[in-house]
Amino acid sequence: MASTDLFLIIILTTLYINSTESSNKKTPSGPEINVTKHLSFLNFLSTNPRINQEITLLGSAILSTSTHSPCIQVPENNLQSAAGRAIYSSPIRLLDPSTQTPASFQTTFTFQFQNPSNISESSSGGLSFIIVPDEFTVGRPGPWLGMLNDACEDEYKVVAIEFDTRMNPEFGDPNDNHVGINLGSIVSETAVNVSDFGIRLNDGSVHRAWIVYDGNKRFLEIYLGPDGVGSDSVPTKSVYSGNLDLSPYLNEYMFIGFSGSSGINHTQVHTICSWNFTSVSRAFLRVPSTESCESKIIVENGGNYSSIQSKAPSSFFIFLAVVFLVIIVMITFYVNGKRKEKKNSDEIIVVSKENLRPSPPNRARKFSLAEISSATRAFGELQILGSDDKSVTYKGTLINGCNVAVKRFSSQFLSSRVSDKRRMYKEVKTIGKIRHPNLVPIRGWCFDHQETIVVYDFVPNASLDKWLFGFGVLPWTRRFKVVKDVAEALRYLHSKELAHKNVKSSNVFIDVSFRALLGDFGFVLSSSESTRFESLVSQKVDVFEFGVLVLEIMSGRGRRSKPGELDLLDLAWAMHESDEKGNLVDRRMGSVVNPDQAIRVLEIGLLCTLNDNKGRPNMEEVVEYLNLERPVPELPVCRPVSLFPYSSTTGLCSGYSCTPFK
Ligand SMILES: *[C@@H]1O[C@H](CO)[C@@H](O)[C@H](O)[C@H]1NC(C)=O
Ligand SMILES: *[C@@H]1O[C@H](CO)[C@@H](O)[C@H](O)[C@H]1NC(C)=O
Ligand SMILES: *[C@@H]1O[C@H](CO)[C@@H](O)[C@H](O)[C@H]1NC(C)=O
Ligand SMILES: *[C@@H]1O[C@H](CO)[C@@H](O)[C@H](O)[C@H]1NC(C)=O
Ligand SMILES: *[C@@H]1O[C@H](CO)[C@@H](O)[C@H](O)[C@H]1NC(C)=O
Ligand SMILES: *[C@@H]1O[C@H](CO)[C@@H](O)[C@H](O)[C@H]1NC(C)=O
Repeated sequence: MASTDLFLIIILTTLYINSTESSNKKTPSGPEINVTKHLSFLNFLSTNPRINQEITLLGSAILSTSTHSPCIQVPENNLQSAAGRAIYSSPIRLLDPSTQTPASFQTTFTFQFQNPSNISESSSGGLSFIIVPDEFTVGRPGPWLGMLNDACEDEYKVVAIEFDTRMNPEFGDPNDNHVGINLGSIVSETAVNVSDFGIRLNDGSVHRAWIVYDGNKRFLEIYLGPDGVGSDSVPTKSVYSGNLDLSPYLNEYMFIGFSGSSGINHTQVHTICSWNFTSVSRAFLRVPSTESCESKIIVENGGNYSSIQSKAPSSFFIFLAVVFLVIIVMITFYVNGKRKEKKNSDEIIVVSKENLRPSPPNRARKFSLAEISSATRAFGELQILGSDDKSVTYKGTLINGCNVAVKRFSSQFLSSRVSDKRRMYKEVKTIGKIRHPNLVPIRGWCFDHQETIVVYDFVPNASLDKWLFGFGVLPWTRRFKVVKDVAEALRYLHSKELAHKNVKSSNVFIDVSFRALLGDFGFVLSSSESTRFESLVSQKVDVFEFGVLVLEIMSGRGRRSKPGELDLLDLAWAMHESDEKGNLVDRRMGSVVNPDQAIRVLEIGLLCTLNDNKGRPNMEEVVEYLNLERPVPELPVCRPVSLFPYSSTTGLCSGYSCTPFK
C-alpha cells in the first residue's frame, strides 16, 4: 500500500508547514485527546522479523540464540568493560510540549543477572531502563551502565531507572544492590537499598520490575518482585514511590529501552526476557488551516526542505494526521483501482524520514578563553592527551560535565609564515557545521589574539593506533567496519568540497560501540593557492593516506618502518608483485578472517596509493568497491617507481618498474 504511505506523508508534510507557521502559539486550543502507545514483547526470539525490526541493538547487545530463553543480552557473554543498549526503534511521545505535561506510562519487564564468575560480592555493572533522546548513542561501560557518554551533549536528556549491582561511592551508591533514579546524570537522585525488600538483584533468579508514572500527578512508583506465580499482579509494597517531575528531562519524542554494562575484571550478563510498555500523553487538536493542501505541496516540491528538516514534526499534527489516515485509507481503496503514478514519492519519503529523526545535536559555538582554561585546569600538564609539531591536545571537562578534547595551536606555529589565521578560522567554522556519524564533531573554537583553539567532542574508547599496535587485537569484522566507516566519513567530506588533510590511525577514534570516527582535522592551509584547487589536491592526499591506513589496519603494522624492516608501503607492493598479499593480513586475527574479503580490501588500499594519473580512485568509488557495488579494477602488476615520499601526489611518477624486490 505504497500509495497510503504517500498520502500520509503528503498530509504530514502539509500539516507540518501549517504548524511551523503558527508554532509561536503556545496556548493549546481545540479539544483534548489522549495519544496512546502500547508495546508488548512476550520474548525476544532472534528469528522473529518483528523483533529485529523493532529492537535496535547498540554496542555490546545481542538477542540470545537460545530458543528456550529468547532474551536480550547486554552486554554480550564474557566481555569485560562492555556497554550496550537495546532500544525500541521508533520514538515515543512522552511530553506534551504545549503544556509541558509528561506522558503517563507503565512498563513491566522480566530480567535476570548472570554472573559467570559467581562472585556476587564483587560483581560489577548493572542494567537500567532508559528514556533517551536518540537511538544511536551508547554510553560508557563499567559504572556508567551504558547510560551516559563522556562526549554527552550539552543537554543530553536521559531518564534512567537503574538496577545496579556495583557500589560506586563517588556516584552516591548506598551499596552493591540498589535501584536508583537517574535524571540527566549518573548520580542517582534517589537510590533504594533493595536488600531491605529481601531481593538480591544478582542472585541469578528472574526478577520482574514494574515502573508506573503518572504524568498528570507527576508521581513515580517502582515495584520489584519475583517472576512467576501471580506475575500479572503487582507486589503490594513499592520499593519507591514519590513525586517526580520528569518534564525537564524529556523531549516531546524519546526512545525507550535498556542499557547495561560490565566492568573491569567482571563479565556480568543482563538479560531481558519480556517487556510491556504503555504510554498515554495528552494533546490538543488544532483546527486545520483553511488553506488547501495542494498549494503547500507545490511549495514543498520547490525544493526548500531545509526548514523542515530542522525540527521534529509537531506532534499535534501527527494526531490530526492519524485521524485523517482513516479517511485516507478509505480514499486509497478508492484510488487503488486507478493506480496513480507516483513519480516524486521517493523524494517525499526521504523528507518524511528526516522529519521523524531527532534534530541534530548542538551546534559548534565560540568559547571564551576563561571557559577553556577552567575546563582544562589552566592547560594543566596532567590533562595532555597528545601533541605534535603544531599543537598540544588537552582533555577538558566543561561545566556541564561533558568531556572534550581541546586542541591548542602553538604560538610558534601561528606566527610562522605557513599559517593563515583568517582562512583557518573560516575553515574551522565551516567544518564546525558538518555533522556525520563517522566524523568527530567540532564543539567549538576560541580565537583570541594569542590563542587559536579548536574544541572537539572527546571520544573515550581510544584511537585506532592503540587498538592496532597497542593493547588488544581487533577482529576482522571490526577492522572491516573501521575501513568502511572512515571511507564514509571521507566520502562525505569530499562531497562537500572539503578535505580532512590529516588522515592517520591516531586520528581515527573508536567509540564504545566500535564505530570509527575520524577526528582532528588538519585545518591549516598555505595561503598561496586557490581554495578550490587546494581542496582538490588535499582530497587526493586524503585518498592516498586512506590507502596507507587501510594497509595498516589489514596488516596490524605501522606505516613507518622499524630499523631493519621494510616500509609498509614497500612491503605491501612487494607482496602484491609476488602474489602473496594474503601474507600481509595480520595473523593475530586468527582464522576468522574472510580471505577473499580481506584480499579485496588490501587491493582497494593499494589502489589508493597509486599515483593520481595512474588510477587512484576517489572516495565515492572506494565506498562502492567496499560495498561490492562496483568491481575493483585490476592493480598494475608492478609497483609504481616513485611512491615516495608518502606525500607524493603531484604526478611525479613516470611509470612502473618491475625491479625484483629483495
Ligand atoms: C484521557 O485519559 C485520562 C486518564 O488517563 C482521562 O481522565 C481523560 O478523560 C481522557 N481524555 C480523553 C479525551 O479521552
Ligand atoms: C505483557 O502483557 C501480556 C498480555 O497483556 C501478559 O500476558 C504478559 O504477562 C505481560 N508481560 C509482562 C512482562 O508483564
Ligand atoms: C554459584 O553460587 C551459588 C550459591 O552461592 C551456587 O548454588 C551455585 O552452584 C554456584 N554456581 C556455580 C556455577 O558455581
Ligand atoms: C541494606 O539492607 C540490608 C538488609 O536490610 C542491610 O543489612 C544493609 O545494612 C543495608 N545497607 C545499607 C547501605 O543501608
Ligand atoms: C584485574 O585483574 C588483574 C589480574 O587479576 C589485576 O592485576 C587488576 O588489578 C584487576 N583490575 C581491577 C580494576 O580490579
Ligand atoms: C529556502 O529557505 C531559506 C531559509 O529558510 C530562504 O533563505 C530561501 O530563500 C528559501 N529558498 C527558496 C527557493 O524558497
